[in-house]
Amino acid sequence: MLTIGIEGTAHTLGIGITDEKCNVLANVIDMYKPPEGGLHPREAANHHADIVASTISKALTEANVSLKDIGLVSFSKGPGLGPCLRVAATAARALSVRLGIPIMGVNHCVAHVEIGNATTGCSDPVLLYASGGNTQVIAYTNGRYRIFGETLDIGIGNMLDKLGRELGLGYYAGPTIEKIAKDGDELLDLPYSVKGMDMAFSGIMTAAVSLKKKGHRLEDILFSVQETCFAMLAEVTERAMAHVGKDEVLMGGGVAQNTRLRDMISCMSGERGADMFVPKPRLCIDNGAMIAWLGHVMYDSGVRMSIDDTKVDQKFRTDEVDVTWR
Ligand code: FE2
Repeated sequence: MLTIGIEGTAHTLGIGITDEKCNVLANVIDMYKPPEGGLHPREAANHHADIVASTISKALTEANVSLKDIGLVSFSKGPGLGPCLRVAATAARALSVRLGIPIMGVNHCVAHVEIGNATTGCSDPVLLYASGGNTQVIAYTNGRYRIFGETLDIGIGNMLDKLGRELGLGYYAGPTIEKIAKDGDELLDLPYSVKGMDMAFSGIMTAAVSLKKKGHRLEDILFSVQETCFAMLAEVTERAMAHVGKDEVLMGGGVAQNTRLRDMISCMSGERGADMFVPKPRLCIDNGAMIAWLGHVMYDSGVRMSIDDTKVDQKFRTDEVDVTWR
């Protein structure tokens, strides 16, 4: 049975098609880029609504299948931006009703875990999920994916994007910041904000902007931001691994593309005798294939939803999902 997945939690509209063995037949990703300033939820949702039908067609073409071959439709129910979530849910409901096929609303964060489990060979990891909107350290215990640590304010990717805008580096500044940071060599003082198992990033951004005003080199500022933030992520991830006794770490989210973060997590896990796993780039960022796959996994385990169950949930917590498939 083929599943079509619709991702629409934030800036990305993604349509993926997977089979029952997690072969990814299609994974079309279209990221909204605001002309200026930050991401406005309504404008991103308008982008998604404008292209959702054509993107579904592209995915069907990429997979070389037609709508009648699809047996299940899955969509990102949350967490995310309300207007964007509603576009994905509306498209999923339309497909479900028109094709007479079941529908599944899934948790976006759990989808990152399950696509990693299915495609990287890990089996019981601690997930470091670092993206624009989300920063969580997640592991499975007692029937749920539990959040062992998370951001108390904004996602790390969101912080990097905001910092990039403040420093004139454009939108989605993560890759630019990574590139410039490679030429930094002085570790400047920034607030290392780990509170218990949680983290805070917005103060680091404010402090970094003030370092620029004091005349420090951009290279050193961005080097210091990366070193400080990634050390915080590595610390919380390591403590979660020690707490739950797991020897695998899985990375997910757009910030997991950063090679310095990967190096630090790899170093930490290597010193613990643990293994690190990273999905392929297009399965690591927000995408429809991971939504399709989790929908299939849930359906296969006996979960069923009616259209009435498909109301989106902007604050859908990772640990609210009953993991019926493990
Ligand atoms: Fe994500």
